[in-house]
Amino acid sequence: MHFFALQGLLFSSLLLLHYSKAQGTSSVNCNYASNYTSGSAFQDNLNLVLSSLAVNSSLAGYLFTSHGQHPDVVYGLAQCTSGISTQDCQTCAVSAAKEIIQACPNQKEAFIHYGNCLLEYSYQNFYSVVRSNVLVGFINTQNATDPVVFNGQLGSLLESLSMTAALSPLRSAVGTVNNTYLADIYAMMQCTRDLSANSCFVCLQSLSNQIPDWCGGKQGARLFYWSCELRFEVYPFPPFSGTNSFTNPDGNKSTSRILVLLLICAALLSLVLLLVEKDEENDEKLNLIDM
Ligand SMILES: *[C@@H]1O[C@H](CO)[C@@H](O)[C@H](O)[C@H]1NC(C)=O
Ligand SMILES: *[C@@H]1O[C@H](CO)[C@@H](O)[C@H](O)[C@H]1NC(C)=O
Ligand SMILES: *[C@@H]1O[C@H](CO)[C@@H](O)[C@H](O)[C@H]1NC(C)=O
Ligand SMILES: *[C@@H]1O[C@H](CO)[C@@H](O)[C@H](O)[C@H]1NC(C)=O
Repeated sequence: MHFFALQGLLFSSLLLLHYSKAQGTSSVNCNYASNYTSGSAFQDNLNLVLSSLAVNSSLAGYLFTSHGQHPDVVYGLAQCTSGISTQDCQTCAVSAAKEIIQACPNQKEAFIHYGNCLLEYSYQNFYSVVRSNVLVGFINTQNATDPVVFNGQLGSLLESLSMTAALSPLRSAVGTVNNTYLADIYAMMQCTRDLSANSCFVCLQSLSNQIPDWCGGKQGARLFYWSCELRFEVYPFPPFSGTNSFTNPDGNKSTSRILVLLLICAALLSLVLLLVEKDEENDEKLNLIDM
């Protein structure tokens, strides 16, 4: 069942990939393979799901909900970056719900990563399914001072954070490497909270494995799949600095140009197939305790 669900999403991603777009630090993916018509029951259910997500996801910082009956049922999820205030979470969720409907006006499946929150909806029940078929990255073009040391330290940090995040109830973890002569490293990892500990770990591991190909030796990056994300920088970003200003994470870093990468290539698709196999494998081998 799990496998088929992944296959379904995988299939739709073939079309989906071509329509991904990103602006600033937000990114929208619409699945143009399945459309609904205006005035349909699906649209009514979608509107209800989106208003639930906008109104009610900020209290816990996460909400998975559904509305309607087959074949017009709509499933939706919204989640804020761990540590952001309820007020900022609410603002983000409202904007994300508004933007996703404008960007994907008739699509039955879509995802938006918007500043410090993400929101997605689908006609398929994606609860607890690892959604790793679309990879989006925002990469700092500056090189680390000593890339070899940096990569080693970052790798160990992320290895430990992916375990900590997977085992935490919020599926989220932050950590630092303190250096005397080189820049410190700050990192954050997070999964959508519908994932089990095992699935979260699998998602974060495969995301970490993308680093050498896309941002090895770079000073910072944000990478995300629909169901997990990671960020690393050589400066403290909001979960560390303790401010509540999460609206523009990279706004004051005018020197670090952000390169938006939409990884749309055949290589990714074959990689995704590998990940599906790896997922099945790891589900048996790993025995993380789900708290
Ligand atoms: C869905 O709508 C988009 C335009 O809004 C169109 O390009 C696409 O071909 C449609 N998909 C299907 C399967 O009809
Ligand atoms: C938000 O949650 C409350 C309590 O569960 C519910 O009564 C209300 O209808 C929800 N609001 C929306 C817009 O779904
Ligand atoms: C980063 O390093 C690569 C390869 O070592 C080099 O080609 C590139 O110009 C460097 N970029 C910057 C911004 O220094
Ligand atoms: C690094 O330094 C910060 C503050 O200076 C501290 O909170 C943190 O615990 C240190 N991390 C490690 C791994 O020693």
